[in-house]
Amino acid sequence: MNKVLIVGSGSMGEAMLRGWVKASNELTKIYVREPNPSNWLKKMNDTKTITLNPLDIKSQINVCIFAVKPQVAEQVIKDNKNDLADNSFLISVIAGKDFSFFHNIFKVPYPVIRVMPNTPVSIEQGVSAIIGNEYSSLAHIKWTEHFFSKLGKTVVLEKESMMDVVTAISGSGPAYIFNFAEILIGVGNDLGIPEEITKTIVLQTIVGAGLLAIDSDKSPSKLREDVTSPNGTTQAALNILMDKKNGWHEIIRNAVVAAYNRSKSLAKN
Ligand SMILES: NC(=O)c1ccc[n+]([C@@H]2O[C@H](COP(=O)([O-])OP(=O)(O)OC[C@H]3O[C@@H](n4cnc5c(N)ncnc54)[C@H](OP(=O)(O)O)[C@@H]3O)[C@@H](O)[C@H]2O)c1
Repeated sequence: MNKVLIVGSGSMGEAMLRGWVKASNELTKIYVREPNPSNWLKKMNDTKTITLNPLDIKSQINVCIFAVKPQVAEQVIKDNKNDLADNSFLISVIAGKDFSFFHNIFKVPYPVIRVMPNTPVSIEQGVSAIIGNEYSSLAHIKWTEHFFSKLGKTVVLEKESMMDVVTAISGSGPAYIFNFAEILIGVGNDLGIPEEITKTIVLQTIVGAGLLAIDSDKSPSKLREDVTSPNGTTQAALNILMDKKNGWHEIIRNAVVAAYNRSKSLAKN
């Protein structure tokens, strides 16, 4: 059984840990390094699943997952490198840091798997995109797929360049949806519904529409058409949202492209 170390338990590291703890019956212990552990993480320390900031785990780690900010990644990886066992491999969820970045640190052929999860992994409803470098094996990919499948869906990518697109769509995506929810809740409130009720109808609409789209054989376009009767209420809203000139297609496209470009630029600094 692989011994797993997670370095960095901020938003993403803790979201993953919470998901794995929920699915813990099959897991061995996860070691965690985090300078500022949350109250939840402190409470989880020394339980069946988690050991926080272990003092000595030299040369025992088979899988090391890095979930630190890109800006500190190089130093943090160098600081943790000596704890990796000979047969180990690294998983990085760090946005924008590509395989050449890791090769420049390790200098020798070393298996690296890049994963782009999103925060719904904390409730086992995430989606994680996976790709391995040229030194990784099918076994490394399979292990990663299995481990992250406990946190929701997984997809394996064919080309590393796809990672920047995934980052901009599903990595950052929950924030777009939360902002959409904030706007809808505010409007509902402005139009006279108490906030608690608006919140319930907005969030359940997002969940229900998502589950329906997953469950249905119909495409999102067809499902949209099904809600839209000619000259009805939905049509009135969609005339504005889908307007060729001022609708939200261009706004969403520009936003996702901005995230995509930012992900690409993180590789350079
Ligand atoms: N958040 C998301 O939705 C999301 C989605 C996909 C991928 N990611 C990727 O996940 C990574 C982490 O993002 P995040 O949002 O979780 O950032 P974050 O909240 O800042 O978490 C990073 C954590 O790493 C800790 N850390 C710093 N130096 C460390 C060290 N030497 N050893 C161990 N831990 C250390 C930080 O502690 P301090 O606060 O004390 O510095 C912090 O708690 C990023 O590379 C990001 O691209 C994030």
